[in-house]
Amino acid sequence: MSQQITRLGLVSALHQEQAGLIEAMQGKQTVTRGMRDYVCGSLWGIETVCVLSRIGKVAAAATVATLIERFGVSHIVFTGVAGAVDSDVQIGDIVVADALVQHDIDATPLFPRHEVPLLGQSHFATDVHLTEMLAGAANDFLGHDLDASVPAQDRDRFRLSSPRVYRGLIASGDQFIHTAQRHRELKAAFPGLLAVEMEGAAVAQVCFEFGMPFSVIRTISDGANEASPHDFMQFIDGVAARYAFGTVKRLCAAR
Ligand code: ADE
Repeated sequence: MSQQITRLGLVSALHQEQAGLIEAMQGKQTVTRGMRDYVCGSLWGIETVCVLSRIGKVAAAATVATLIERFGVSHIVFTGVAGAVDSDVQIGDIVVADALVQHDIDATPLFPRHEVPLLGQSHFATDVHLTEMLAGAANDFLGHDLDASVPAQDRDRFRLSSPRVYRGLIASGDQFIHTAQRHRELKAAFPGLLAVEMEGAAVAQVCFEFGMPFSVIRTISDGANEASPHDFMQFIDGVAARYAFGTVKRLCAAR
């Protein structure tokens, strides 16, 4: 079990996902490094550093390495959106990663497909205790706060009836998955895959290398198919930003 959270690193790819959290922070101080603003302060009683990674694996890896080395965080949580790959997982559901894999890494024939060269593994497990807490916070958010947090018009528009929390495998790569063919290929390559996104497995690799407890939580924004770009930004504003705020609030309260 990981130690108590003493300084939380909170990372997201898009500014809408953190705007509310930064507004809620007490005693804010901003430090700029490598074209990113690290906002340090207290979030519902937990010392926190909020930062936007921007999009993709390199951006996420650079951000997380800086959080660890320069800001001395004790735990890292990545919040964001993802495309569903499992047929049970619907738009508006939440996926909390138990493990992450880079679907686009390929050093064959030197190393097995999807293995990170010289680390000898393809799948990186999230911290068990933090992930348990995060999944609990997400369940509490959906069970108790959804109606008050997401306006009825957004719930109707995105057909959120009774969203659920899933736990399992997330795959990351530097591609927005928006075709049925790519969707099928990923599903076939990774049995049990729930969702795809563009940063989580890079965060996982850096945290593994530094021995940093971390977790990744994603709101499902699309089906990783031809309909994916549809209403994407409206979903981020209307739903994903509210999910991130409500879940992190519950996480801080529960710690
Ligand atoms: N993030 C949200 N949806 C995604 C998709 N379809 N592919 C990659 N990253 C995503």
